[in-house]
Amino acid sequence: MTRRVPPRGSGCVLPESADVPDSFRKRVADSYERFATSGLPENLEEFLLEEFALDVSTEYAGRPIRNPWGKASGQLSMTSGQVREDVEAGLGFVVLKTVIAQDEAGEQSMDAWAIREARMQVEKITGKLTGQPGWTVTWKGRGWWQPFEDYLTLIREAREISSHAAAEGSRDATLIVPSCKYHLPAPGEAEWKTAEYEYSTQRFLEAWGASSDEPMPLEKDFSPTLAGSDLAAAREQILNWLHEVPALIRAGAGDQATSLRVGLKLFNAMFDDAFQLELLDLIHNGESERRPDFFIYGNRLFDPAWEFDGKVGVAYGGPDLSARNLRVMSAFTSKDEPHPRPQPRLPWSATGDIGTGQMAIEYALRGATSFQLHTFFQLPASEYRMKSGSRTQRAMHELYFHPDTGFVVWAEHLRQQSDSPESVARVADLAVHIGDRL
Ligand SMILES: Cc1cc2nc3c(=O)[nH]c(=O)nc-3n(C[C@H](O)[C@H](O)[C@H](O)COP(=O)(O)O)c2cc1C
Repeated sequence: MTRRVPPRGSGCVLPESADVPDSFRKRVADSYERFATSGLPENLEEFLLEEFALDVSTEYAGRPIRNPWGKASGQLSMTSGQVREDVEAGLGFVVLKTVIAQDEAGEQSMDAWAIREARMQVEKITGKLTGQPGWTVTWKGRGWWQPFEDYLTLIREAREISSHAAAEGSRDATLIVPSCKYHLPAPGEAEWKTAEYEYSTQRFLEAWGASSDEPMPLEKDFSPTLAGSDLAAAREQILNWLHEVPALIRAGAGDQATSLRVGLKLFNAMFDDAFQLELLDLIHNGESERRPDFFIYGNRLFDPAWEFDGKVGVAYGGPDLSARNLRVMSAFTSKDEPHPRPQPRLPWSATGDIGTGQMAIEYALRGATSFQLHTFFQLPASEYRMKSGSRTQRAMHELYFHPDTGFVVWAEHLRQQSDSPESVARVADLAVHIGDRL
């Protein structure tokens, strides 16, 4: 069994090794070995509850989900076949690839983003901040490049697959989440193309079958589209986007606004941590109609000098990404900050270099209630101990059951520090409770 060393950056608060009884670790190791050949149990959540007294139910966008694991938006959630595999593997939620918004006439102001990826490269990376080894995926593509109608079909099919599987297995459905890149004016541009917000949002809601009883979560993808802009202007513009976009999406939904939950996927801008905190403050502190319902943090880092396939400047992930995200979210949630952080905080779904249960718990201790992964679902087969089943199942096996870095041992570590270590632990509650003491 390989020891997967977690990236240790300036942000980590957990010790190197989980403080759990040897007998507990041994039981986890047995499950790890057994499931590596037999495959994961049919109802994993029930197994975790019965065997380890762990309740992994949690929430995403304020909606209940049966476990915290999700597929992050990207190349691995573009087809109904991919969604089916994730539903079968039992993910709590799947965020579909980002589509580029359009208006009724099919105009897309962000069409430069509707580019097919030429090549993706999964490669090892050493964190510049942490010196730790990890993985990143480099590529040149951007958003959904097929017709918009095909994306609506994907939403419909994904919803059907998920509800069908839930009915068959009598368990909660995998939550399906569309993702969209709407028009964002560049610095100096005043006009917002609201027709794109209206047309696209309404089509998503229809395809999803949203209602106020069952609202549709939607992720708004912001990516650094400001290359070449004057830096000060870029800062102003990013703040302006975050201020305007939630209300524009809700207005776009018209009388269906109550059937929608708006999430902003914040990215790591090329400025300092103070700017990231300014973004987080802004989305929490606005008037209620301007606030998103939830947020996702934090999408990739950008290296302006990295060249890939003739393109200079690429987004990347790995240990530096988690180190930065954890550092910023520690500062955001710290009680020691000079100015008070907002209470309550918006629901938060974490993304960025989550490749172990331990890393997921680091994020949970800073308030994340769900984890969305891309890179870890894309590693070479040799990186997973389980040799059969889909890539998602193999990844889940590592994430839960690795005896040193898995979610089960680290959840137990939290339970051992709680006030009532004997009772069944709901990991999401434990993390909030213990995170508040940090
Ligand atoms: C190949 C690739 C494609 C991606 N496409 C999108 C996208 O379309 N929309 C989006 O919001 N994020 C996209 N992302 C970002 C991921 O959803 C994720 O937030 C990010 O990679 C950090 O998670 P990770 O470290 O687990 O990869 C993409 C990432 C990769 C590597």
